[in-house]
Amino acid sequence: MSENVMAAIRPDEPSPGADRPGGGAPPWSAARPWPRTSRPRRWGGVVRTARLSLAEQPWLADHLVLGAVLLPATALLDLAAVGAREAGCDRLDAVVFERPLPVPEWGALQLRVAVGAENAEGRRAFTVSARGEGTGPDAPWTRHVAGRASRGRDVRGAGLGGGPPPGAMPVDPGAHRVRLAALGLVLGPAFRGLRAVWAAEGEVWAEVSLPDGIEAQGFGVHPALLDAALHAVGAGGLLADEGRARVPCAASGVRVWRPGARALRVRLARVGADAVSLVAVDGADRTVVEVGALVLRPLPAAALAADRAASGPAPHRVDWQALPPPGPGTCGRDAVARWDARRREGDALAGALWALGLVRAWLADGERGGRGEGGRAEGGRAEGRLAVVTHGGVALPGESPDPAQAAVWGLVRAAQSEHPGRLVLVDADPDEDLGAALASGEPQLAVRGGRLLVPRLVRAERVVEVPRAGPVFGRGTVLVTGAGGALGRLVARHLVAAHGVTDLLLAGRRGVPRDVVAALAARGATVRAATCDVGERAALRALLADRPLTGVVHCAGAPEGGGAVASLAPERLARALRPTALAAARLHELTRGMDLSAFVLFSSPAGILGGPGAGPHAAAGAAIDALAERRRALGLPAVSIAWWPPGAGEGSLPLAGHEGLALLDAALTAPDAVTVPLRLDPGALRSRAVEGALPALFHGLVRVPTAVSPRPVQGVPTDGPRAQDPLPSAACDGGAGRDQAAAPPPRRDGARAERLRRWPLR
Ligand SMILES: NC(=O)c1ccc[n+]([C@@H]2O[C@H](COP(=O)([O-])OP(=O)(O)OC[C@H]3O[C@@H](n4cnc5c(N)ncnc54)[C@H](OP(=O)(O)O)[C@@H]3O)[C@@H](O)[C@H]2O)c1
Repeated sequence: MSENVMAAIRPDEPSPGADRPGGGAPPWSAARPWPRTSRPRRWGGVVRTARLSLAEQPWLADHLVLGAVLLPATALLDLAAVGAREAGCDRLDAVVFERPLPVPEWGALQLRVAVGAENAEGRRAFTVSARGEGTGPDAPWTRHVAGRASRGRDVRGAGLGGGPPPGAMPVDPGAHRVRLAALGLVLGPAFRGLRAVWAAEGEVWAEVSLPDGIEAQGFGVHPALLDAALHAVGAGGLLADEGRARVPCAASGVRVWRPGARALRVRLARVGADAVSLVAVDGADRTVVEVGALVLRPLPAAALAADRAASGPAPHRVDWQALPPPGPGTCGRDAVARWDARRREGDALAGALWALGLVRAWLADGERGGRGEGGRAEGGRAEGRLAVVTHGGVALPGESPDPAQAAVWGLVRAAQSEHPGRLVLVDADPDEDLGAALASGEPQLAVRGGRLLVPRLVRAERVVEVPRAGPVFGRGTVLVTGAGGALGRLVARHLVAAHGVTDLLLAGRRGVPRDVVAALAARGATVRAATCDVGERAALRALLADRPLTGVVHCAGAPEGGGAVASLAPERLARALRPTALAAARLHELTRGMDLSAFVLFSSPAGILGGPGAGPHAAAGAAIDALAERRRALGLPAVSIAWWPPGAGEGSLPLAGHEGLALLDAALTAPDAVTVPLRLDPGALRSRAVEGALPALFHGLVRVPTAVSPRPVQGVPTDGPRAQDPLPSAACDGGAGRDQAAAPPPRRDGARAERLRRWPLR
């Protein structure tokens, strides 16, 4: 049957008049992005354009397919149905979903529904097309849906007339949602409307409802509601399980009888190997929507994955964004620890060790409190947060940070990743009131003159291309520390090959391997290799004595692994900081009198993003970034590249060496002192966003779904519905507010007979 369905559906083009410039009706207004009814044009067809964006339809962000927000087929179907209705057609005879339609994270899509003139058989061809907004009036449209519509015979849907047949087995819809997520179909709160499912021979019955906060008005059948109904196909095992999520690819015989439903009872029946029919009714058994046959095929994973992989590496930076003043809140349980301004400025190790001691003590105390020791089990540290407050730990535009306090930020950022919700970082003047900052719920803030600012990672502006050869590093000697290491070799070669550097001073504790020196010399560079521990001031001073430099590239680093902050030994932290942040500070001091053209530091994204187990790298990286900012504030050249070889971390994918070097070149002429080269993994970021677990720093890169009520109907658990908690039948009656109030408390005894009796139409 499904093959017949497919064969019967031939995508026709609407009559030429439908596409006639100026022949369409005025576009839908931005305030009403979903199609509205209007009279067909005199020539007999209808063209409508609409604007679709996640800003205006935020619930769409809850439909995530292999990491991309895809417009659900049910939304395309609804657009087609409403468009066809405008042309006087109340039946979609055939619909083919030709290609998925990704919804952009930012910006908007233009949609166009074109319904052609009636042919001799009384049918109209229609298409649904899209293009990016801002691509210009002549930009081509891409067709996503094609089909035919007609005026149906006025035979009312007969309703369902009863409930699941005897022997129907209840199924857990929550478990199905978990399985879908594993198959790449992640459903946020708006799409978790499948409340209960019963599976019988050749058919599946279901109850679905829209979560609170999602408006049903203006739609034929709300796409999230119909989509939820279709999930019952998989949950009830109606079609063969091919190990991939199924998505609609064609439909026939679609009629929407009653628009604006909030809740439905649904019967789905198998009508072919890949096809089901659907009848959905409201609480009074009035037919809301019917689909004669819906063809569901396994997700075309390869095509979608190829689309996703297209995102390339790009420089990013931290942007401090103003936060609207929060409403009244409480911070009664937050403890506050302030950096003592009398501590030695600039000493990254002192900052990191202070933060380590503080956080370890806090966590240990919380552990004891959590176990009920010391009388702190309730309202004690186990439940409260520790606010770590600095004054100059971060730099807003025009400011110069203190690397010691920046190291505090780095270490605490890592600890925040390891203990979400337990620590807050605030940078504020000593006389700033912290109440609003702590009530904001943000994990990291700066307070300036009462204004709250939060860090957000954003894409850095593209910068002018660096010439292949030029005096970026001056015309004299360039020092490369750690030149025998993986990064140092890569960069030293690049300096000679791409920047025309001809005089290199290479340093390492054990000198520099001969092959490295020989390879650079073979390219015509004068190379001197020195044995020097750059963490030792005296050794570094001796190295630089009588050796004026024009460039410094600091690649030395300790391959110190990570370690959870709670168990991190101070010695390990010191070992990580010595050749990195502390050596960088010494290079800064000892080259102050030199006429440097470039001062390049390599830090770590962990300094900004934190990350479990990244404490040492995060402390060192943040201090190095702060040194670069401080040098810029002093009018000295400085660039810090927060590039970590594995590259992969929270929401990002690895960078190849040549990609990192290209971004290094871009950073050398960028306006920002600190550059974070990243190849983002939009899928991973969006999945975290849908789960509500996306770190705040990424909120500038991925649109975070607007929270809809996680508890759509009284008695349904917030983490999704469960079969043993079927909806009170009244919840399906439309006006949800009234019905919820009248609904009995949920039953948890779960006997199957009870569940079946609760289907009110039996
Ligand atoms: N590899 C990358 O792609 C990459 C990218 C961005 C950032 N980084 C950062 O760059 C640093 C180095 O990474 P890597 O992968 O190149 O590590 P690596 O292969 O272990 O090399 C480290 C180099 O630093 C030298 N070194 C260590 N301590 C030193 C000291 N006190 N004085 C002088 N030289 C010292 C080492 O030589 P001796 O042992 O002889 O002293 C070695 O040549 C790390 O901090 C890392 O986080 C690396």
